[in-house]
Amino acid sequence: VLTPRMFQYQLVKRAKSSIKHIVLPEGEEDRVLLAADQLIKQGVVRLTLLGNRESIELTAKRLNLSLDLNSIQIESPLSSPRFESYAETLYEQRKSKGLSLEMARDLMQDVSYFGTMMVYRGDADGMVSGAIHTTQHTIRPALQFVKTKPGNSTVSSVFFMCLPNRVSVFGDCAVIPNPSAEQLADIAISSAESAQMLGIEPKIAMLSYSSGTSGEGEEVEKVRKATQLAKERRPDLKIEGPIQYDAAVDPVVGKQKLPNSEVAGQASVLIFPDLNTGNNTYKAVQRETGAIAIGPMLQGLNKPVNDLSRGCSVVDIFNTVVITAIQAQEG
Ligand code: ACO
Repeated sequence: VLTPRMFQYQLVKRAKSSIKHIVLPEGEEDRVLLAADQLIKQGVVRLTLLGNRESIELTAKRLNLSLDLNSIQIESPLSSPRFESYAETLYEQRKSKGLSLEMARDLMQDVSYFGTMMVYRGDADGMVSGAIHTTQHTIRPALQFVKTKPGNSTVSSVFFMCLPNRVSVFGDCAVIPNPSAEQLADIAISSAESAQMLGIEPKIAMLSYSSGTSGEGEEVEKVRKATQLAKERRPDLKIEGPIQYDAAVDPVVGKQKLPNSEVAGQASVLIFPDLNTGNNTYKAVQRETGAIAIGPMLQGLNKPVNDLSRGCSVVDIFNTVVITAIQAQEG
């Protein structure tokens, strides 16, 4: 059994095994600097902070950080020697969508675009942002030019929910408001791969208000179709659906409702039918049980870019940087 404490310990150890360079566009934000302090002191990653050097130095002083700012790269988009070249790359990528070079220069002043371009161009290995900016603001540049991995057209996300006795993978709780059956199948497969990447054996439950044939409706049909599509594409994976949350995780209920299932009662990857359910379930579990929710970790992108919740804590930022570094190791 993988305990939450073991899981977090292993993540940090793995990130340290091959140090990656992560860019944090919200370099002037208190929580980001506090997380950067811990990350550097523990030797987990190399960092670039975006922002004004003087403001960052003043903030570090106000927070009483003993962090050596010389060990961190600090860059401000407009005064960066790379600015013009980045704007040109963005223009090349998006001119077919009507973007002019002037508009590309305007966009490149935005730290989300600049940070994402650092990753795209290989000047950083991954980006973590969203402590101040919205999800849309944070991930749109990645959707526009980092794009998806071959064989997968959907960017979605997972949370690693550190429950008292195990770590469960919840997807998608942050990106796609109302996924189609095809997108839901993509989410299931990507989430299983993300679970495997972090050492969790995927047993996938495609959640719905019906277990097997117990309930009917359009929304149940969508989950049934998604399950079928995912099984066709990845016959090697253990997938069950539609299934209710209790039947998915409780061995007694699972046995009662779906006695022949390889997943019922022991699901480790929980796939929610839409964002209303996924987002509120992860927040409900997190708030009501005190479970640490690591993520959201975006999956499906060509290079790692991750979004924080604006309510995130310093620990959340630390953990998200750690998993971003691990994603970067995976390439
Ligand atoms: N996968 C792959 N590509 C995508 C995806 C996706 N999920 N979504 C959008 N794209 C692509 C589009 O194809 C488009 O590409 P193109 O410009 O090259 O043609 C580009 O990204 C922009 O598409 P838009 O439709 O303009 O997408 P937009 O940027 O407006 O929105 C977003 C994308 C931000 C993911 C949107 O779906 C959204 O707002 N989702 C909800 C986010 C949210 O509020 N989450 C809850 C809070 S998060 C939390 O609590 C932790």
